Amino acid sequence: MPESEFKHERVLIVGLGLIGGSLALALRRQGFARELVGVDGKVEEIEIALQRGAIHRGSQDLLAEVAKADVVVLAVPVKAMESLLEQIRPVLRPHTVLTDVGSTKGNIVAAAQRIFAPQMPAGFVPGHPIAGAERSGMAAADGQLFARHKVIITPLEHSASEAVAVVTAMWQAAGAEVLSMSVPHHDEVLAATSHLPHLLAFSLVDTLAHDHENRDIFRYAAGGFRDFTRIAASDPTMWHDVFLANRDAVLEVLDRFTAGLSTLREAVEQGDSLTMLGVFTRAKEAREHFSRILEGTAYAKPRKTSQGNHYLLQPGGHAQARLRVPGDKSISHRAIMLGSLAEGMTEIEGFLEGEDSLATLQAFRDLGVVIEGPEQGRVKIHGVGLAGLQAPAGALYLGNSGTSMRLLAGILAAQAFDSELTGDASLSKRPMERVATPLLAMGAQIHTSAAGCPPLRIQGGQALTGIDYALPVASAQVKSALLLAGLYAQGSTLVRETHTTRDHTERMLQSFGYQIEQGPGWVSLQGGGRLQGAKIAVPGDISSAAFLMVAAAITPGSEVWLEHVGVNPTRFGVVHILRQMGADIELQHERLVGAEPVADICVRYAPLQGIDIDPQWVSLAIDEFPALFIAACCAQGVTRIQGAQELRFKESDRIQAMVEGLRQLGIEVEALADGALIQGRGHTEGCVFSGGKVHSRGDHRIAMSFSLAALRASAPISIEDCAPVATSFPHFPELIAKLGIQLSVKDSL
Ligand code: S3P
Repeated sequence: MPESEFKHERVLIVGLGLIGGSLALALRRQGFARELVGVDGKVEEIEIALQRGAIHRGSQDLLAEVAKADVVVLAVPVKAMESLLEQIRPVLRPHTVLTDVGSTKGNIVAAAQRIFAPQMPAGFVPGHPIAGAERSGMAAADGQLFARHKVIITPLEHSASEAVAVVTAMWQAAGAEVLSMSVPHHDEVLAATSHLPHLLAFSLVDTLAHDHENRDIFRYAAGGFRDFTRIAASDPTMWHDVFLANRDAVLEVLDRFTAGLSTLREAVEQGDSLTMLGVFTRAKEAREHFSRILEGTAYAKPRKTSQGNHYLLQPGGHAQARLRVPGDKSISHRAIMLGSLAEGMTEIEGFLEGEDSLATLQAFRDLGVVIEGPEQGRVKIHGVGLAGLQAPAGALYLGNSGTSMRLLAGILAAQAFDSELTGDASLSKRPMERVATPLLAMGAQIHTSAAGCPPLRIQGGQALTGIDYALPVASAQVKSALLLAGLYAQGSTLVRETHTTRDHTERMLQSFGYQIEQGPGWVSLQGGGRLQGAKIAVPGDISSAAFLMVAAAITPGSEVWLEHVGVNPTRFGVVHILRQMGADIELQHERLVGAEPVADICVRYAPLQGIDIDPQWVSLAIDEFPALFIAACCAQGVTRIQGAQELRFKESDRIQAMVEGLRQLGIEVEALADGALIQGRGHTEGCVFSGGKVHSRGDHRIAMSFSLAALRASAPISIEDCAPVATSFPHFPELIAKLGIQLSVKDSL
């Protein structure tokens, strides 16, 4: 490859203010250039820069320095850019990289086009570091100012890729993350995220500070005022220039803001609680989402706590505790859905604040439903009725959650508006034709990708008709999607199944006052009824409890109590299977909470035997198989799993993921098309697993299952990619630490 003609041996920074000075400090520290030169009109700034070791050399001879430089960074106020460009134009060499730090881009590029006409320099790559402070000047410069911050570059049609590479490398050397976008997009984004908030802060402070009497109120102004108006102390001249420079984009976003403000004004005037709560709850969620993004990235203080994505487990430990597991995921999804479609208020307690059920909650907010919370598992839904959903502004993003997508498909197929459902990389590979096909048969217009996967595109305004449908695969999600579509359909919708699947939708429909009919292997309902808001208590999730049950079942000397767990018979397969393997499981305080049976479950260690798992139990324990694989390894003799091909279509191919991981941990295991043969090693009470490194395949239940193996391992086990655990079991690491497993969460292994 020929050497690039764009170099960065001699870097010139024009303007040693906060931004130019901070960049100089950072580049000098990194040794980015052989010579770093600073030009500034004020000798004092040059002196400070030299004293602070920010530059090798200072100069006031702009043109002589530009003529020698490989890289010229224009770090002057936006308004001064144009005349500066004009001055340097005659001395700029063809292979000099030219960039700037201006916070608006359209006006600078327009000025450059005029000045350099007819030919823009190939080395010109406009840039904008998204960082700053209220203080200014070289004295306030900070070599860390750009660390973990974003810098936007806006390469132009004529920008040489080598010049783009130099500018990118320069900001990366300063510790920044470099993003690239078009000039108009940059100006729109900045108008919304920076310019508008500054305008509002200036305006609010000015309005309140209007006269001296008013100034007194500042004495009483605590956090809210201070937080909101910090940026009103920014440089007035600079901001004056910014608003002139980015006028059109600022006006556009200001108009939108003004419309939003008028809506709120009217809501306050009219005492319209629903509108106010709608705005506030949506905004709170959006702000929290933003904070989560900030925690990991730019425009923020460095992260305090590491979230980590990998688990490292020490061998051994015990299983001794009395615990509560988080709320049931399936029931939490359904409570949000039916609560939204009901008339009146629905109050939920015990809601699972995991990413999957939160994705459903967010989707319904996007569909116009006002939802308060979640606040420690409490959620209040202001139901809109079956006909009250509104068209969302964009695609509904459902993250990792198959249940959200499939059940929503049933609801959205019956709406008057179009919609699109998308998800993360894992969800985007999961089969959706299983819901699309029967919904099409009901008269819906629904399209999957060519591979039958997300995104789902749903065309609204279709009249649905009930069908009589026999499920080709055992799936509660498909059954539920059809029942939900059936609420809107003409006539009756009947779903038949040969293997029993979870019946939470059926139970909850009745809790919301909807009549259904059911018999062995079938359920039906008539469209056209109404749902009435209800109080829903969500029990602990037996699928989460299963990990702790298996932990106790495989660890000699253990006793674990799990309180308030849902023991719906359609979810009870894990208890049947473990008991048949010889596990000691006791249920206490069996009771009905709302429509769902609940109990406290106690598991004590007992030696386990390998078994042939009855395929009839597969659909009753479908999510518990990864944990059951671990139990099988700790049993004496072979365990055979068959009739479980559905495991291949979960958040990962769970047969493959478990077989691969178990082999890493020294287990003899054979994958079958529809299950596995596992050679148990539980003939003694000693170690069963070697240590080793396994991968979750991005699947929460695989990550949690392998964590249990540590209890019977001879050496540490590390598990890659465990962040998805948060989809169903927030605080899993803390909970199993309470149990007696030594787990640490790591950024890297
Ligand atoms: C679920 C049904 C099951 C299960 C999933 C939740 C539900 O999926 O695996 O975790 O809430 O209806 P399938 O319907 O695909 O079997």
